[in-house]
Amino acid sequence: MTHAVVGHGRLARALVPALRAAGEVVVVGRRSPGAGEFLPVDAARAADWVWLTVPDDHIAATAASLPWRPGQLALHCSGATPLAALAPAPAAAGFHPLKLLAGDTGLAGVHVGIEADAAHRPVLEALARALGLLPLVLPSPMSAQARAAYHAAANLAASGVLAVLAEAQALWEAAGLAPEQALPALAPLSRGALDTALARGLAGAVSGPIARGDAGVLTRHLDALAAAGLDADLLLALARRQLALAEAAGRLDAAQIAALRASLAAR
Ligand SMILES: NC(=O)c1ccc[n+]([C@@H]2O[C@H](COP(=O)([O-])OP(=O)(O)OC[C@H]3O[C@@H](n4cnc5c(N)ncnc54)[C@H](OP(=O)(O)O)[C@@H]3O)[C@@H](O)[C@H]2O)c1
Repeated sequence: MTHAVVGHGRLARALVPALRAAGEVVVVGRRSPGAGEFLPVDAARAADWVWLTVPDDHIAATAASLPWRPGQLALHCSGATPLAALAPAPAAAGFHPLKLLAGDTGLAGVHVGIEADAAHRPVLEALARALGLLPLVLPSPMSAQARAAYHAAANLAASGVLAVLAEAQALWEAAGLAPEQALPALAPLSRGALDTALARGLAGAVSGPIARGDAGVLTRHLDALAAAGLDADLLLALARRQLALAEAAGRLDAAQIAALRASLAAR
């Protein structure tokens, strides 16, 4: 079987070597092909599976520009794009690695969201394993709304964490610490919390004043933000969700929950 990978960006630079290392035959399709590469239409003609590794907003137009024939499978690697974008192809599947790829990292070791019909799912799951990926079966078909929610979750888990750390860094600066000290000192806390969550679940891992029912400390945190002129929206939103986790863990009594709720409601 021959694969065409159309669009040679960050995802393709990880996918193409991984496919080749797994023994697959791969041709690369590019708008301006270099040595040993092809125009997208020529790469697609030569292939059984055609991977459209172009920016999400260009998947549909690229699919519409290719000369499909019966038996071919079109794939995209987008988290946010419904398979309807691949409608010009005879069959379509999604293969979305849950990893930030900057062009210098491999694919292996993470989950890959697979949306495929019953005929293609087993072979895609087998390919995922051959690439060192863990198959994550997505609903099929997956609506545009479900795709958007799934992708929003992935973005929250990746860049959302960066936004939380940026907020933490701003608080350290407000406390008079040098900002360059923040990330090296705080990131291990994030890693530790994630490691604990993987072992014990989210509710089992939550710690800090909210998990301890320490409403006085929570109030002092919020007062400190107000005194520094910082927006407390993110801290408040996260505090409410931590309280829900602590309640789910059954670690707080009714009086502690009431005190924490009162502390949050006062803002
Ligand atoms: N990067 C990640 O972390 C990551 C992770 C998971 C999934 N994905 C998904 O992988 C797909 C590719 O993302 P990427 O990060 O590799 O993007 P990218 O680095 O921007 O590369 C996309 C490639 O598509 C081609 N291209 C650019 N503009 C185009 C246009 N207007 N029309 C047609 N082709 C165009 C270019 O290749 P040529 O110059 O070779 O034509 C470009 O290098 C997306 O669906 C994305 O959601 C990315």
